[in-house]
Amino acid sequence: MATVLAIETSCDETAVAVVKNRHVLSSIVASQIAVHQPFGGVVPEVASRQHVEAINPAIDQALQDANLDWSAIDGIAATCAPGLVGALLVGLTTAKTLALLHQTPLIGVHHLEGHIYASYLSDPELQPPFLCLLVSGGHTSLIYVKDCGVYETLGQTRDDAAGEAFDKVARLLDLGYPGGPVIDRLAQQGNPAAFSLPEGQVSLPGGGFHRYDSSFSGLKTAVLRLTQKLRQDDRPLPIEDLAASFQETVAKALTKRAIACALDYDLPAIVVGGGVAANSSLRQHLQAAAQRHNLRVLFPPMKFCTDNAAMIGCAAAEHLDRGHTSPLTIGVQSRMPIHQVMQLYKSGSGTN
Ligand code: KG4
Ligand code: ZN
Repeated sequence: MATVLAIETSCDETAVAVVKNRHVLSSIVASQIAVHQPFGGVVPEVASRQHVEAINPAIDQALQDANLDWSAIDGIAATCAPGLVGALLVGLTTAKTLALLHQTPLIGVHHLEGHIYASYLSDPELQPPFLCLLVSGGHTSLIYVKDCGVYETLGQTRDDAAGEAFDKVARLLDLGYPGGPVIDRLAQQGNPAAFSLPEGQVSLPGGGFHRYDSSFSGLKTAVLRLTQKLRQDDRPLPIEDLAASFQETVAKALTKRAIACALDYDLPAIVVGGGVAANSSLRQHLQAAAQRHNLRVLFPPMKFCTDNAAMIGCAAAEHLDRGHTSPLTIGVQSRMPIHQVMQLYKSGSGTN
């Protein structure tokens, strides 16, 4: 039962948490959204500077909220891939310094493995194997979770990630950044059947469509064309109906693929992770479909769907328990396939 202080700085949240095994003792998320909003998206250089300013107060606060001092911390974790290089460097360098200072093991964590582990915070008894539907701003994947650190990607998007599609559609409807939460909110008042939008399928060379891969750029373009046409009318844009129809199309496309994949691989549960796991339509569609097929479906607690350090700490605690620690020479990587996570560790006694 390891107690870990974890840092997450891969994008636009400066997050620090203290996690004991699969239980969150404290979780601080200093959001930079307001800083990036005028630019309509995350500006990497600005993100790095904000992380530098926010990281130390967040660490102090996380320890204080957990009511612990350094002597109770068994390991220091930080996200080291994938993400914005400058942003990741702030978190990882801080973690290395603390690990050296307090003579504690360092655990580098893959950001997507963190999103998978967010669901262990909903159910600490959850055990692999299961299928993870990982839907964030940068990724849309179906991952076969075989064990801690053992992953196989079975499906992914061929172009935009699901969250990216929400952000792009929100931008073209002038709804601001990030797009997911605002579209989700507006869709509550809209009719999901108001507009018929293309799901975006990936063709196979011999005919037919890919069962697990998705594509969202065609859907985004369809929303663009539709709004251009609607704007020619002299009436206000039916934003709520557009939001509801778009969201429904994404939710159905993701649900169809996740169910097909879980059934084909005979996996008993679908575990959802990433910012889009917060989406109400996805939650409804997936839950209903899973029930029809006798599959279990599990979502992270709402506050741990989007980026946070608790999920990073949860993954790190299990790696530490298994003796997986990272050398202090470890670096950051902007891209890293999830099946390579074990490259972050040297197996051993748990000291650097
Ligand atoms: O996992 P996350 O915080 O960051 C990445 O690792 O990318 O995901 C952020 C993404 C954004 O694209 C945001 O628009 C989307 O998650 N998102 C949502 C919702 N809340 C956040 N998308 C749909 N519905 C939501 N309720
Ligand atoms: Zn994320």
